[in-house]
Amino acid sequence: MSLYGRLRRRVGSDFGYSSTAMEVTEGVELTGRRFVLTGCSSGLGQETQRVLQHRGATVVGLARSEDKAKASGADEAVACELSEPESVRACVEVLRGGPPIDGIIANAGIMALPELQQRYGLELQLLTNHVGHFILITGLLDRLSETARVVVVSSRAHTMAPKEGIPFDNLSGERSYQPWVAYGVSKLANVLFARELARRLPEGQVANALHPGVIQTHLIRHLPWWQSTVFRAAGPLFLKSIPEGAATQTWAAAHPDTSSITGEYLQDCDVGTSSPAGQDLELAARLWETTEGIVAEL
Ligand SMILES: NC(=O)c1ccc[n+]([C@@H]2O[C@H](COP(=O)([O-])OP(=O)(O)OC[C@H]3O[C@@H](n4cnc5c(N)ncnc54)[C@H](OP(=O)(O)O)[C@@H]3O)[C@@H](O)[C@H]2O)c1
Repeated sequence: MSLYGRLRRRVGSDFGYSSTAMEVTEGVELTGRRFVLTGCSSGLGQETQRVLQHRGATVVGLARSEDKAKASGADEAVACELSEPESVRACVEVLRGGPPIDGIIANAGIMALPELQQRYGLELQLLTNHVGHFILITGLLDRLSETARVVVVSSRAHTMAPKEGIPFDNLSGERSYQPWVAYGVSKLANVLFARELARRLPEGQVANALHPGVIQTHLIRHLPWWQSTVFRAAGPLFLKSIPEGAATQTWAAAHPDTSSITGEYLQDCDVGTSSPAGQDLELAARLWETTEGIVAEL
């Protein structure tokens, strides 16, 4: 726990800023529950997988390759390269053949690519963080159990998206590109996707987005050296640890208290407040329709 975390803990409640994934699942029995988790091979995903398994759950771990997912210790390992629609669709086919799914944790992500990278005419962070997860989750909706939970790992960085929210005329990044703005757009898309999904799910099933905190993980791999150095130095003093960072998504996926929370933006194991654009339900509906159109062409 960082110095900042220790100070917060003194004034915070039992579950809050510095709770860990183990703490928020203390006494929660997950035997017989089956979770699908993207990004199981690193950082917050790896810790989420470890803790869900520790509480008895079966975790289907998704990584860029089956070998990578296997090496993470997943109970079932499936390849899912989120920036390759064919890979995501092949993964969906495998999962559709299995037992019902009690939770999907859309955790994988990339951040702040220094130069514009595109695939299939889309900016790569948007494709990976939003569109890939859209294909995965919408392909599995009828395989969800009656009380399933969808957890979409967004970021406070969704506030870095332009004021109007999603720049529908620049999803390729061609008109302008700034690393953090593009990351912000992809993370705002995560928030809006969860809001619209919550509206569409039948009663009993829930969907939420969340900010996990700021944690030193491999996510910083694309930052310039001086930024990643500052990040590393700040870790022990100011940032959450990985077990703390994995807490909110584990809480959302597994704790009994969160079974009826839906359409929300969570942070620090509580309901938080997203940017105004992140609360715009018309924008959420427009993004859903636009993404459906994009996916139909991929
Ligand atoms: N760390 C933070 O401070 C922070 C703050 C806010 C939000 N978040 C969010 O938390 C989530 C987890 O991030 P993390 O901090 O745990 O970072 P991480 O250690 O870099 O983990 C990210 C995971 O996503 C996977 N991934 C990336 N691109 C992929 C692709 N195209 N297809 C399939 N898998 C892919 C990575 O696999 P490879 O290793 O194979 O690339 C890795 O397993 C992300 O969505 C991130 O945006 C993190």
